[in-house]
Order: sequence, then C-alpha cells, then structure tokens
Amino acid sequence: MPPAADKTFYVTTPIYYVNDAPHIGHAYTTVMGDIITRWHRQRGEDVWYLTGTDEHGLKVLRKAQQEGVTPKEWADPLIQTEWMPLLETIDVANDDFIRTTEQRHLDGARAFWQDLYDRGAVYQGEYSGYYSVGSEEFVDDDDVVDGEGDDEGFKISSLDGSRVEYMTEENYYFKLSDYQEKLLELYESNPDFIRPASARNEVISFVSRGLRDQSMSRSTFDWGIKVPWDEKHVMYVWIEALLNYVTAAGYGSDEEKFERLWPADIHIVGKDIARFHAVIWPAMLMAAGQPVPHQVFAHGWLLVGGQKMSKSKANGIRPDELVDVFGSDAYRYYFARALTFGSDGSISWEDINARYHAELANGFGNLASRVAAMIGSYFGGALPVAGELTDAETKIVRTVESAVADADAAIDAVAPQDALAAIWRIVEDLNGYLTEQAPWKLAKAVPDEGGPDAAAEGGRLATILVTAAEGLRALAVLLNPVMPKATATLWSSLGAEPALGPLADQRIADVATWGALPAGSTITKVPSLFPRIETP
Ligand code: ME8
Ligand code: MG
Repeated sequence: MPPAADKTFYVTTPIYYVNDAPHIGHAYTTVMGDIITRWHRQRGEDVWYLTGTDEHGLKVLRKAQQEGVTPKEWADPLIQTEWMPLLETIDVANDDFIRTTEQRHLDGARAFWQDLYDRGAVYQGEYSGYYSVGSEEFVDDDDVVDGEGDDEGFKISSLDGSRVEYMTEENYYFKLSDYQEKLLELYESNPDFIRPASARNEVISFVSRGLRDQSMSRSTFDWGIKVPWDEKHVMYVWIEALLNYVTAAGYGSDEEKFERLWPADIHIVGKDIARFHAVIWPAMLMAAGQPVPHQVFAHGWLLVGGQKMSKSKANGIRPDELVDVFGSDAYRYYFARALTFGSDGSISWEDINARYHAELANGFGNLASRVAAMIGSYFGGALPVAGELTDAETKIVRTVESAVADADAAIDAVAPQDALAAIWRIVEDLNGYLTEQAPWKLAKAVPDEGGPDAAAEGGRLATILVTAAEGLRALAVLLNPVMPKATATLWSSLGAEPALGPLADQRIADVATWGALPAGSTITKVPSLFPRIETP
C-alpha cells in the first residue's frame, strides 16, 4: 500500500538493548526492514527508515555494574564499535538512528507521559510480583514456573524461559484495562494491524482473556528517564522505549515532521515483542489521542542447530563472521530468500554456502558475465541493434512483466522471499533462453550467400544479446533493494547510466518497459559478481 500523497512511508526496527554486541538475529530484522525500505524508495515513494538502541532499564544497568562502569560509559563505546559499524557491515541505508539517551527522546518521552497523566490515563499503586530483567517484563504469577537444569533453584518465566525476581515496589500504572474493547475493535476493523496470522491470533486471544493495568514506572533504581510529575520514579523501560518511534519522528519537537511521518506504516519486530507493539503501544497512543501505526509485522526466530539463537546459549553468530566470507550482498540475499518472513527458520553455514554458489555465483553472476563477455567479443562491447522479436523473446518480456507485478505485490504482503522467488524466474528463464538459443553457435555460423547475416546488427545474435542485456537491466533494478553492491556493478557494466541515469532513480513501474537500453551503450566485462569461495 503506498502512503498518502503528502505522507512518508515510515519503517522501523526495534531499538536493541545495548547490553551486548549485535548478533545475526538483530541484523536479520534490520536487513529485512532495509530491503522493504529500499523497494519502496525504488517505487519513487518518500521513505523514512529508523533504527536505534534501547539504553535504559535494569538489563543494561546490571551489565554496566558488572563491568564496573556507568551505563552511559558502557553504552557509548559499544555503540561506536559495534552497533553503528553493524549498519555498514550489512549495508543498511537507514535515515535515522535514535538512542534513548538522546535529549530529543528524553524531552519527547516526558511530554508524552505528561500528556497521559493530564488525560487521566495514569494512577499510582504498588506492584508485588515477578519481573524478568532478561526481557524487562512484569510476569504474571500464572506464567512463572520452577526452573530446571541450569535454572534449578530459580523461578523462570514460561513466556521465554528467562529468570524472574520477586519485587514489591511503588509504581505508577497505565489504565491498559480500559482498552480491551478498543483494541479488539482495532484488530477486527484492520486485519492487517498485526501480522502474520500466527501473531494476530496470539494477540487477539491474549487481549480477549482480559487486560490488567500496566505498571509503567520503577522506583528502586534510577537508570531511566525521570517521571515528569514525580522524580522519585523512572519510566519503566518499555513504556519509554516504545516512544522512540514518535520521539524520533519529531513528537514534541518538530510538528511538521511528525505530521509527515506519523503514523508509522510498519513496525518490524521479532515475535518476542509482538505483544508490546500490538497491545500496549496502540493503547498508549489511543490514550494520548494519537493515531496508531498501520501495521506491526512480527517475524520468527532464527534457529541455529534447531535452537533459538541467543547470546546466553552461546550460539549467537556475529554478522561479520558471515559477511567477511560471503559479502554483504549474499548475506542480505540469503536471509531474505532462504527464510519465510514471519515464520521460524533454520540457518546454517552449509546452506548459505550452497545457495551462494548455486543461485548467486552460477545462476545470476555467471549470467551477467557471459552476456557482457559475448557482447564484448561479438560486437566490440557496443550494444547492437536488435532485430524482430520472436516468441522466445516475447516469453522473456512476459516473464519480466509478471515478475515485476508479483514481486511488487509480495513486498506489500511483507514477503521478501516471494519477491525474490518471482525475480529469480527472470534469472532462470534467461539462462534457459541462452542455452536454447546458443548465441555462440550463431556467432560462428557462416552467413548464407545473399541471405541474412545472423551475426550482423539487427540479426538473431544481436536480438538474443539485447534481450539478455534487457533482462539484466531489469534484474539490476529489481535486485538493487536486496543486493545494492552487485547491482551497482552490473549497472555500470551495462553502461546504463548515461542514458537511464543512476540505478537508484530507476522505478519499479518502468522495469518491464522493453528496449530501455539504447543501442550503442558501452557494455564492459563484469568482474565476477559472486566469485567462488573456498570454504574450510
Ligand atoms: O527487545 N531471531 O531488544 P532486543 C530473530 N529493546 N530475531 C531476533 C533473534 C533471533 N534469534 N534475536 C533477536 C528488545 N532478534 C527491546 C525492543 S522496541 C521499542 C524495544 C531481534 O535487543 C528481533 O527483532 O532484545 C527481536 O524482536 C529483537 O532482536 C529483540 O532485540
Ligand atoms: Mg530480547
């Protein structure tokens, strides 16, 4: 769905806790958001992509205490050496990066809280119960069980297996229970508000069971934003962190920007935090009289060796371990292609390696180098004039048309794996077309006496190579959101820029318009887009 004319398509990731360095789970969410963002940009929409870090709360405080530094002293270097460089490593083109310790967030969060208070959505009370520092979550007694194995002797949350602690504390409460009906109405009237269906069902059944008011402040430690009307309290980290989506968008500081950006079009999150985003967050916005986001999309777990990958299980893989070997393009391609966004999925080194060689090196990369090499040797590197299209060429044109339509629809359905599958039909059909047409044979054929010269300008050989080059042009544009580096190389190898302009300016809607590359374009041999890799 495109945004309204004066609106920006606003995409967000969760803001990640800075208790540790990023692993591929964090990078997964951020890459997928980036692919969706870049696709919308390629449509010509105005897009804004936000990511950032969640720095308050007990989880970060305790990590800093363990290290013997203040939370800020812990977070600052970690963000410089790990979280910001991650974006380079995985080639993410975000428009903004918010840290919850920034002034704009402190100011905006306080303004929002004051507004909730003034509107009567808040009251004072006491919380006695369990809390999980690992997931920064108040846990109902019903969800607490005795730990086993490594957790023997501890109470754990059955929601995510994290250890819980018992606490009794003066807290402020948000009247979440007022919103049960309004939330159920929202899910009903806007079936896409929370997706996929598994997350939607989970959220609806949770809300249907009834909502309790939500504790929203803490008063036994001070690493957080002070509650504006009572400085003995700091904001409970979730009721503060969710606000990053509006404070980064100008809430309380830049009304014009906020008008343009808010509401967000899609909050991309992992399913661990779907409830916060699909229950508490819209209720807070309703309480403050603000529009709710259009969609929360909750993706599944990356499983490594069948287990949810996490730092505590020591199966957390750093993104650069993979990028160093396969490159950022293949990394992005792999996570988008091999997993179904919205479901859990297993990843493995063997699988990345196999897809890299079969799909990228042999499938796509080899196609690009063969076509450029043939135009080089048969036409001196200048794109020839095509002759009449036969059924074989028309079939390629149709493949591109349907691939564009299907991929575009798949992105709206937040199914990048389907977009890539549709685009890959072009790779496969072009490879099959070249095998069938065998242009290398035409190049060797001696022209019939007085008959048409197959290897001349306007002959069959030219038609085939122009068709292949046009297919590559389409692939460069369609794959640019997923593999920005390889497609930039391809774009320059096709000599496309002088006539068509920069790759980023090409529009999805124009991709299937045939014959865009003018005859005479300078085609240069591509360095192998995906060189073979010897892996240990
Ligand atoms: O929850 N598979 O931050 P967080 C897939 N600060 N995705 C994974 C993953 C895995 N194994 N592990 C992590 C927080 N993720 C809060 C968010 S938002 C206002 C505040 C990804 O550092 C996934 O997106 O624990 C998940 O939701 C997120 O990292 C949790 O990051
Ligand atoms: Mg977490």
